[in-house]
Amino acid sequence: MVHGDDMKVVRHYVENELRNFNYLLGCDRTHQAIVIDPLDHQAVLSLADQHGWTIRVILNTHEHHDHIDGNPFVRQVTGAEVWAHRNLCSVIPHVAKGLVENEFIELGDIRLKVLFTPGHTSAHVCFVSIPKSPADSSCFFSGDTLFNASAGNCRNGGNVHDLYATFSKVISSLPDSTLLYPGHDYLLNNLNFALSCDEKNQHAAMLREKVLTLSGSNMPIMNLGEERQYNPFLRLEQPEIRHKVCATYPELSCEPHEIFTGLRRLRDNW
Ligand SMILES: [Fe+2]
Repeated sequence: MVHGDDMKVVRHYVENELRNFNYLLGCDRTHQAIVIDPLDHQAVLSLADQHGWTIRVILNTHEHHDHIDGNPFVRQVTGAEVWAHRNLCSVIPHVAKGLVENEFIELGDIRLKVLFTPGHTSAHVCFVSIPKSPADSSCFFSGDTLFNASAGNCRNGGNVHDLYATFSKVISSLPDSTLLYPGHDYLLNNLNFALSCDEKNQHAAMLREKVLTLSGSNMPIMNLGEERQYNPFLRLEQPEIRHKVCATYPELSCEPHEIFTGLRRLRDNW
């Protein structure tokens, strides 16, 4: 568990092939909680019980089954409402509230802002917490948009140009201190990819060494400042990365959006 001064974050690693993370955000003052992208509903419900929290809201970052399959069970047991982007109201069953860009969500001491982040899918949203004290770090729940050391794929309803726009306009504006809570643990695999296109990156090499023997539930929580040191999708100006992309796909120009597109293609074929 990670303690904030106000909101508590519990990360649950689902031991499945897709290596999902489910997140519970709790308020100890009002004993209420929000769950983000529940898949392992039994674990989520039991963790909420252990903390004395009642789940009031289920937030979905997007409609893929591994992010919504726990919704009906959590809803049935707790009566929690399902909230997702308004374009998904007829896609995800039982959506009670359609979210819009930059909307604020408040539940007890939990305060989140909805970020519209298309790319992995066309109506993907991320959530960023607003800490009580500006000195505290925000938590960024990135779904399948930004992963540790990589970016989400665009294969099932996505668009790489939208994903680039999300990275260059939304993610780039988040401060270095922001803590990253992605939808999956792909850290080790992604670091291997990062090193394949940025061979001399010592930050990637050192982190790889550190996490080599860790299970998904023990993976470290990194901030965006750290991610900007080894995540190739956040390092489009790096000469090594540009060279790797342009050498592999000579038809691409060296403009940042084309480097991003080429990197995504490299990752898909890796
Ligand atoms: Fe997904």
